[in-house]
Amino acid sequence: MSLIAIVGGTGLTELEGLQITESLAVTTRYGAPSAPLEFGRFGQRDVVFLARHGKGHRLPPHQVNYRANIAALRDAGVTDIIAVNAVGGINSAMGAEALVIPHQIVDYTWGREFTFADEGNVIHVDFSFPYTEELRHGLLAAADKAGHFVHNRGVYAATQGPRLETAAEVDRLEKDGCDIVGMTGMPEASLAREAGLNYACLALVVNMAAGRSDGIITMAEIELALKNGMGRVRSLLAQFLST
Ligand code: HPA
Repeated sequence: MSLIAIVGGTGLTELEGLQITESLAVTTRYGAPSAPLEFGRFGQRDVVFLARHGKGHRLPPHQVNYRANIAALRDAGVTDIIAVNAVGGINSAMGAEALVIPHQIVDYTWGREFTFADEGNVIHVDFSFPYTEELRHGLLAAADKAGHFVHNRGVYAATQGPRLETAAEVDRLEKDGCDIVGMTGMPEASLAREAGLNYACLALVVNMAAGRSDGIITMAEIELALKNGMGRVRSLLAQFLST
């Protein structure tokens, strides 16, 4: 039996259409997750929702307790995670409001608690293909059914934040083959792999990355893209959960 969790990022702190049956403030050996786990039903499906940055108080990307979040979901019986992430676009084809279902990751984060491997319990999980293909295809099929264009591949650069990048850093990310850049994709994805959970990402581009547009990046443009794009994210998720 599969149990799906949605991990909502910036702009998605709750899932419209989710009939919440229970909100559980849990704790794990790694501490408490960002928010209570919200158990509920979406259409015919049991779903768990977790607000990555917390409810109300916003945890910055480097302060999210990724280990507690993934451990709490695993302990709740979750088998599959759909991560929703707001990102910057590096590839010029992936402009503001574009939806991307990435297929690869380059990790530039540092200083985060990033593994479940305790001393004496060394695990080297395979991470060649960081996202679960079956879940990615489920999202692609849902996008198709809902009539939303999505980029079916993309390399996600995970940066440390919370500041945005310099233009030169974005040049480097582009040379490294990255298409989009965000701050929360890692270590979430690798922890999910270590925990044996399926994981895929639905990314919404909310700005062109540094140096990729005429001016600087403003919160106003990010908020506008979130407002304009989240409707499609919700509709795609609703389609995904109804199948
Ligand atoms: N860079 C990193 N993370 C982001 C960006 C960006 O430009 N936009 C939204 N999240």
